[in-house]
Amino acid sequence: MTARDLERFRSLHEHGHLCTIAWRGDRPIGYAWVALRMEPTVTQCPLPLPAHAAYLWDLYVTPAERSSGIGSALASARLRIAREHGREEGWRMIDESNHASNRTLAKSGGGTRVVGIMRFTKLFSRMRGQFQPAAGGAGATA
Ligand SMILES: CC(C)(COP(=O)(O)OP(=O)(O)OC[C@H]1O[C@@H](n2cnc3c(N)ncnc32)[C@H](O)[C@@H]1OP(=O)(O)O)[C@@H](O)C(=O)NCCC(=O)NCCS
Repeated sequence: MTARDLERFRSLHEHGHLCTIAWRGDRPIGYAWVALRMEPTVTQCPLPLPAHAAYLWDLYVTPAERSSGIGSALASARLRIAREHGREEGWRMIDESNHASNRTLAKSGGGTRVVGIMRFTKLFSRMRGQFQPAAGGAGATA
């Protein structure tokens, strides 16, 4: 982890966001974040997170530890954290082509649905996201 990552983690923690960490012995091998509210420190994307949902982001497992269930275990653990904080569902943003990440979604529970599509456009160094809710998706509960 770089010093910049460490500073970002410290700031997220100070803003009250929650991180769950996977350990092998005394070595951290993965992590995943949970936000109970949206704000610029979490993402610049205009995601209309409803009050009954938590935003689940930044799931990561070190390359040497992948494909042994840790990513899916972290994905399940952060859903539990969201529930413990009174949220009925968790929203994730996943690239359609990210097979491993989509598998962690499938393996961390049933009842998933597409709430919408985020499209990104990049103009020079500026990235802009636009959220398009799925029909009957963004407002409904799971
Ligand atoms: C996504 C990620 C967290 C998954 O972690 P993991 O510990 O490998 O997850 P799991 O072991 O639970 O595996 C999930 C599935 O993906 C598969 N998988 C893992 N790496 C893969 C890869 N590079 N390509 C294709 N499939 C892969 C696993 O074999 C497993 O398949 P299975 O369900 O058929 O057994 C990890 O790949 C990662 O950190 N990726 C980089 C960051 C990232 O993309 N995060 C997600 C952002 S939304």
